[in-house]
Amino acid sequence: MKTLVDLRIVALPPDSPRVADHVRLDQDLVAHDSPWQAPTTEHRLRCLLRDGWDGEAPVAVSALLDDRVVGSGYLWCSNHDNLTSAWLEVSVHPSYRRRGIGSQLLERLCNQAREAGRPLVGMSSWDTGPAHGFARAHGFEARLAEVLRRQVLAQAPWGRIGRVPVVLAQHAPGYELVRVRIPVPEELLPGLADLWGDINDAPTDNLEIEDEVFPVERIRSYERAQTARGDRLYQVLARYRASEEISGHTIVAVDGERPWLGDQHDTTVARAHRGHRLGWLLKAEMLRWLAEAEPQLRQVDTWNAGSNAHMIAVNEELGYRVVARSVDVQRRLA
Ligand SMILES: CC(C)(COP(=O)(O)OP(=O)(O)OC[C@H]1O[C@@H](n2cnc3c(N)ncnc32)[C@H](O)[C@@H]1OP(=O)(O)O)[C@@H](O)C(=O)NCCC(=O)NCCS
Repeated sequence: MKTLVDLRIVALPPDSPRVADHVRLDQDLVAHDSPWQAPTTEHRLRCLLRDGWDGEAPVAVSALLDDRVVGSGYLWCSNHDNLTSAWLEVSVHPSYRRRGIGSQLLERLCNQAREAGRPLVGMSSWDTGPAHGFARAHGFEARLAEVLRRQVLAQAPWGRIGRVPVVLAQHAPGYELVRVRIPVPEELLPGLADLWGDINDAPTDNLEIEDEVFPVERIRSYERAQTARGDRLYQVLARYRASEEISGHTIVAVDGERPWLGDQHDTTVARAHRGHRLGWLLKAEMLRWLAEAEPQLRQVDTWNAGSNAHMIAVNEELGYRVVARSVDVQRRLA
């Protein structure tokens, strides 16, 4: 492996002045590799470094050449589940590739994963030649294909979406749809914690992954981390009237700094309540709500495993179209 003697890899804490350099790095990466994305902002990146996705901060590093930020690395570990695995991210500025920088970043992160007792490591990347070549060169195997779809709201099938009350009456007469803002009221949390775990039924193909667990504290941490970014979170619940059981939910985040961007988070229907069109109903009701509450919203992005036929069918029916594909790879460290 090539070793760049003048490369330094240093920690990137949330309050580092280098965060601004990382935002510029991300802008260049997006322009080169994934122009369909909105690059991060300084505020979002600082929040991510501090709170992660749901309260667990990543280990983050900068790769420096003559004090210029030329790459970044992240190590993500959960202390809720999957206690012997870690997720890594390595990115190198397009002008500095094929000089061994990615490999040095990866080596640093793998050493840290090993020291943390997490020998099973994975990476996600856009489905591109460089990412495949890099992963293969480092002994990773492709395990799961994922697809990014985008719904452009101006082109959504609003006629069909407007039929929510009719479809509810026809296909799910025992249920009601309830709109809640996040953070959700305390009394809903125990029922939601049971439901969140059913996301583990989503296909993971050949990924080595244990079921994720969602205690009430993790849901609250997620809510805090997401709202601290300034995002506005909307959640639609399906409730079974007879037992008041929460039988499904969907969450969309609207970017607080760029409120035309929406991001679909989890959608889950509890096992016992599948087969009543609740997946479609939840997401269509969410669109009706967003049209009222966030009329400036232009698009919502969603990720699915390529093999998640049920969710994809719902998404396609609601007007989502494929934007890009990614691949998840894994390997075990010696
Ligand atoms: C993938 C990425 C991190 C590689 O960074 P890099 O600094 O260029 O990687 P290295 O120079 O250490 O490359 C190590 C080996 O990976 C393989 N590789 C790297 N880029 C490649 C490419 N474009 N095509 C084929 N193989 C490639 C080669 O085997 C290379 O060794 P070599 O240059 O001696 O042939 C960089 O292209 C990048 O940031 N891409 C966008 C983010 C991304 O996809 N990250 C996730 C990777 S799974």
